[in-house]
Parts: sequence; C-alpha cells; structure tokens
Amino acid sequence: MHILHVVGARPNLMKVAPVLSALRQYPKIKQSLVHTGQHYDTNMSDVFFEQLAIPAPDVNLGVGSGSHARQTADIMTRFEPVVLERKPDLVLVYGDVNSTVAAALVCSKLLIQVGHVEAGLRSFDRAMPEEINRLVTDQLADLLFTPSDDGDKNLAREGIPAKKIHNVGNVMIDSLVRLLPAAINQKLNGLPSRYVLVTLHRPANVDDDNVLKVILGYLLELNSQLKVVFPVHPRTRQRIAAFGIDVSQLDLREPLPYIEFLALQRRATVVITDSGGIQEETTYLKVPCLTLRNNTERPVTVTMGTNILVGQDGTTLRAELGKILQGKQKQGTVPPLWDGHAGERIAAILSKL
Ligand code: UD1
Repeated sequence: MHILHVVGARPNLMKVAPVLSALRQYPKIKQSLVHTGQHYDTNMSDVFFEQLAIPAPDVNLGVGSGSHARQTADIMTRFEPVVLERKPDLVLVYGDVNSTVAAALVCSKLLIQVGHVEAGLRSFDRAMPEEINRLVTDQLADLLFTPSDDGDKNLAREGIPAKKIHNVGNVMIDSLVRLLPAAINQKLNGLPSRYVLVTLHRPANVDDDNVLKVILGYLLELNSQLKVVFPVHPRTRQRIAAFGIDVSQLDLREPLPYIEFLALQRRATVVITDSGGIQEETTYLKVPCLTLRNNTERPVTVTMGTNILVGQDGTTLRAELGKILQGKQKQGTVPPLWDGHAGERIAAILSKL
C-alpha cells in the first residue's frame, strides 16, 4: 500500500512526524511526502523538518503565499498531476490549513481515499478560514482520526458514519512527548525566572489595526511588570510594520524552532496566544494559557486543561492574568489519549486496510 502525506504549513509538521515514524514499522507500507510550499521560510519549515526528523519531501509544490482562493487553487492545480503520476492508495492530510482542504478536494475527485488527521474539531465560527477548511475536509474524508471525544460528537452531528471515525488521541502531543527531553536540556540564556510568552497570528487579531493596537498596547503595559517574550509570525510582523506600531520595548524574536519554543513554553509563567496547537501544548505541560479568542475548536483545553478564553478586548485578559500572577492559576488535567502514542494508533488502523 502506498500512503502519500501532504503538509504545507508549520503546524502540519509536528502532526505528520509521528505518523510517518509509526508507519515505518510496517514494511509493506510505502510512504511519500508532498510539501505544498504554503510555508517556505527556513524558520517556518526547514528547521522543523530537521528537529522533528521528517525526511525531505519527495515533491515540493512551491506554491508560496497568496489570497485564500489563489493559494488553494495553486495547490490543487500543482497537486493533481503529482497524484495522477504517483497513484497513492491513500492520501493523509493534517489539521486545518489551506493545504489540507486543497489536497482533500483533489483526491476525492480522483476517487483516491483521504484520511484526515485531527478531524472533527469545530470552533463554530465560520469567519475563521480554518473552520471552513475543517468542515469541507471532514465531509470529503474517508477516514477521520479525531484527537478527542468532542470531535467524534461533532462529526456524528454532521452525518459522518461512525465506522469512518477513529478517536486516536492527539498526534501533536506525540511530537511534544518525544522532544520534551531535548527542550528540558535547552538553556534559556538571559531570561528571568518569570516571563510571559506570546504568539499572535490569527487574521481576526492582527489584520485589523484597532484590534492589533489594543492587544499590543496591553502587552507593552504588561512588559513593565513581567518580561514579554514574543516570537513574531511573518504575517504579524508585516502588520505591525504596516500599521506603524512601536513595539521595540518587547523582546521580539524571529519564529523559533520547535525545541526552542517548547523550552520557552514549559518554563513560562503564562502563555498568551491565539494559536490552536499552543492551547493543546500548554494543557499537556500544565502551563497557564490565556487565549485571545472568543471561541476554540479545542474545547477540552478549556474544560479539562489550563486554557482560558479571554477574547480580544483586554478586560478578561487583565483579570485572569492578575489571578495567575498571584499564584491562583487554573489547574488542569491532560485529556485521554494525549499520551505520545496517537501516531502508532493511526498506523495500526492503516495497516489493517
Ligand atoms: C497558516 C494557516 C493557519 C495556521 C498558520 C500557522 C491557513 C488558512 N492558515 O496561516 O491555520 O495556524 O499557518 O503559522 O492555511 N509568510 C512568510 N513566510 C512563510 C509563510 C508565510 O513570510 O514561510 C507570510 C506571507 O506573507 C503570507 C503570510 O505570512 O502572506 C501568511 O501566510 P499564510 O500561509 O497565508 O497563512 P498563515 O497566517 O501562516
């Protein structure tokens, strides 16, 4: 059997790594890897291949950046001939980025089986491009691998037959578990014992200058109390420059490699983010997480984990941060099957096809 994996953006890479590795235990399965090139900077892609020990892609579609329609269409146009030539039996797509939905669309029209890793997550907010990608991909997929029970329920509600759904746990946590020892050994030079780690890249937070100014204004105010360490996503860096906002007082960094970022996360007093994956990673690490969104497609991080949704206006953020700084942070537990073995469960299911 030939399984072809498709990745495109940074958050796909920590998800594909454990599945690739687990499938290597089955010699009858041939694997290949296509990178769409949605993310192309060294520090958004290459460095993750290295640290996560992902083999070099067999094909790079080199699509780069563009509007949603253009990027999705470019991936589809360039991916179709690759699939026709390589004739995989199954294509695995990951997460909720434009590369995920584009590859799923191409395969379903060519009658090639699609497996979706990280299926069933819903924010119920269709203003998020990722929500559209999740809804469409799950309708097209033949095999749906969910990270938590809420995913199974969402899919059932959308009419997906139970036999297609497999609750396997969280593949992203597999990568975390594997590289945590390396992160523990990582030296954090020049950082105080208490600091805030920030990431920000959602269009809803960074593309509107008023919203971005309010968030950054709050971070500047916070920085006088507690050092703010902020690895800046390329989209956010562009917006900060375009809106002419002065953030030179913050400890701004380039996007960080996986191990370095994990090292910063595990020692942070609190993480402030709008990322999806970081809500999960902080839950596993039991580090307080304040998410700058009104909803999340990862509700177990709130119901079981350390995550709190604080919206965008700064009021709830201030209140929750006050509690954390007084040592009264929310306690959490790790959701079931977030144990470092999700990739193996996926491989075991695929090996029986
Ligand atoms: C994408 C995903 C998002 C994910 C995020 C993680 C979609 C719809 N969104 O958002 O779900 O959380 O990746 O990072 O697929 N850029 C660079 N270098 C790169 C990549 C991007 O400079 O290597 C810049 C480009 O100018 C681009 C902008 O960042 O226009 C945004 O990139 P894009 O891939 O469109 O979406 P992300 O915001 O990264």
